[in-house]
Amino acid sequence: MERDIAEKRIVELCNLLEFHNHNYYVLAKPQISDFEFDMLLKELQELEIKFPEFQSENSPTKRVGDDRNNEFVQAKHKIPMLSLGNTYNIEELKDFDIRLKRFLGENNNVKYSCELKYDGAAISITYINGIFTQAITRGDGNVGDDVTQNVRTIKSVPMKLKGNFPKEITMRGEVFMSHKTFERLNNERILNEETPFSNPRNAASGTLKMQKSAEVAKRNLDCVLYYLYTDELPSDSHTKNLETAKTWGFNTPSNYKIAENFDDIFEFINYWEENRKNLDFDIDGIVIKADSLKLQDELGQTSKTPRWAVSYKFKAERVSTKLLSIDFQVGRTGAITPVANLEPVQLAGTIVKRASLHNADIISELDVRIGDIVYIEKGGEIIPKIIEVDLSKRNIEAQKTEYISVCPECETQLVRKDGEANHYCPNSENCPPQIKGKIEHFCSRKAMNITIGEATIKALYEAKFVKNISDLFSLTNSQIFSLEGFKEKSTENLIESIEKSKNTPFEKVLFAIGIRYVGSTVAKTLAKSLKNIDNIINASIEQLAQIEEVGEKIAESVFLFFKNQDNIRIIDTLKNAGLKFEIEEEEKDSNILENKKIIISGTFEKFSREEIKELIEKNGGKNVSSISKNTDLFIGGENVGPSKIEKAKELNIKIITENEFIEMLNISN
Ligand code: IVH
Repeated sequence: MERDIAEKRIVELCNLLEFHNHNYYVLAKPQISDFEFDMLLKELQELEIKFPEFQSENSPTKRVGDDRNNEFVQAKHKIPMLSLGNTYNIEELKDFDIRLKRFLGENNNVKYSCELKYDGAAISITYINGIFTQAITRGDGNVGDDVTQNVRTIKSVPMKLKGNFPKEITMRGEVFMSHKTFERLNNERILNEETPFSNPRNAASGTLKMQKSAEVAKRNLDCVLYYLYTDELPSDSHTKNLETAKTWGFNTPSNYKIAENFDDIFEFINYWEENRKNLDFDIDGIVIKADSLKLQDELGQTSKTPRWAVSYKFKAERVSTKLLSIDFQVGRTGAITPVANLEPVQLAGTIVKRASLHNADIISELDVRIGDIVYIEKGGEIIPKIIEVDLSKRNIEAQKTEYISVCPECETQLVRKDGEANHYCPNSENCPPQIKGKIEHFCSRKAMNITIGEATIKALYEAKFVKNISDLFSLTNSQIFSLEGFKEKSTENLIESIEKSKNTPFEKVLFAIGIRYVGSTVAKTLAKSLKNIDNIINASIEQLAQIEEVGEKIAESVFLFFKNQDNIRIIDTLKNAGLKFEIEEEEKDSNILENKKIIISGTFEKFSREEIKELIEKNGGKNVSSISKNTDLFIGGENVGPSKIEKAKELNIKIITENEFIEMLNISN
């Protein structure tokens, strides 16, 4: 590869890996599979070896992913929290064994501890005098989020040790969620119209970063601890030490094996690759560690990974099946989603009948055709995706898949805007699934919270009683009563629920009317800054785009929504029905902080963080989550990260303590 191409690719890979690291660790929403991530990392590693002059100090090859967000106090790891080198093939694993033995020279009979690689969120927990003291996430390996309160709620983490334990202990391990808990949680989320978690690992790391530990407690997390650090180690053997730690009350791994040679390792891998489906939690591979701590010490570590351990990762399970047909679904915004109907097949514990095909580009890239044998894999999402077509099994008569050009529901010509992946049906006023979808969204819990099911909405639409959201408010008793399955009581309940919804606050009404790109948070921001619907209707794109967190795309979408006279008519009908179209001003304590943008950081002594934020709003101020030159005030509590203080000073932002803040507001607590 030429130097200039290599340089460009290295920069590109660094940016890409940084982006996926953030998705994985901070947002807990990975967009690519671990395998894809590791392949990118490997490509970067190889290029950096060939062209060391282009390697940057902050290259992802030198760092471990950063899982911190701004919501937690930062805590330093006394012993850096390393990641593990990983491999997907047995040859590389053999190389690890050979390298290790070569390094150790004479000492050739290395014993390995083979363990499961638990798929969750890494944690470091400290005990002083046998008492649970602090729990920190990995963070950047040196500093992590202090999640002590949340980890306290995990039942398998002991609060007090038993027996003859050392004075100071740090345990490293993994917080995870069992399949049973995960399923229960997702069922609950679906019932509450919340987005389900895509896998147990995301559910576990998302839960670990929740702000309210009472909520964490309800989620029933689990924790396994697989490494012991202490100055008073019971023995030279890692596995023996974990057995001893078990007697102190720790949940240490039970499925491990000492391997005397490579065949033993191989056997362990094969066994678990086959039997992992019988576990009630996810593992994504096997960890192999030199068992002797003396050897571990001699081998040492690189900046990122120990030389005495490696992980062998399982490939995501993939199976082949037949593509029977492709459905094109129309969502409430008119977006078209192609979905593959498959011959049912067993994959990673569930029977799969459908797979996502995302959009027209994916279909043409795969060149997937009806009747093809396709490989499917479960990636980061719940719905599996088609990875590849088995061309050797293609029927010569198979026809190239033509993407639809008209809406399958209303036959309107589809549109596809430049730069957008999806096709849209523009007939938002008359396309049945769009109308029904809009009504469902309007009634949903986070919106107007009207208790009505999908089937009733369908029946009301088909009976032509409800053609748009505003028609819900002119429904009569007799219309509802005439629907199949409705009796007096159920009719009354629905009428009552619709009536009650008229009290829904403006920001929720704004969310409910279903403007594209306006989710509940943006709706809240719009409502708070423009106060009423007429101001929003009359705002220009520029005015809208000036509002914090409202970008060009949202501004344009809001503007165009209200340029449509059908929408204006619907709003007028809703106004007449008595819905709230202006913000209800909360009673203010004062205007002392009027329009001041304020950031808080750290923990506080007299108030909780939430209470401080509330005080800011009640006195006219605005909470912001990141420091910029527009920030007016920085309220620093205990344990504020030094980099934040530095940044505030650099930008000349006034920094005050909790007490100074209290004085400023003239309140005493
Ligand atoms: S040992 C110094 N053992 O996998 C100790 N890690 O991809 C290094 N993991 O960072 C870790 N199961 O979060 C170890 N049995 C196990 C593990 C394990 C899962 C995680 C851990 C690590 C990551 C590397």
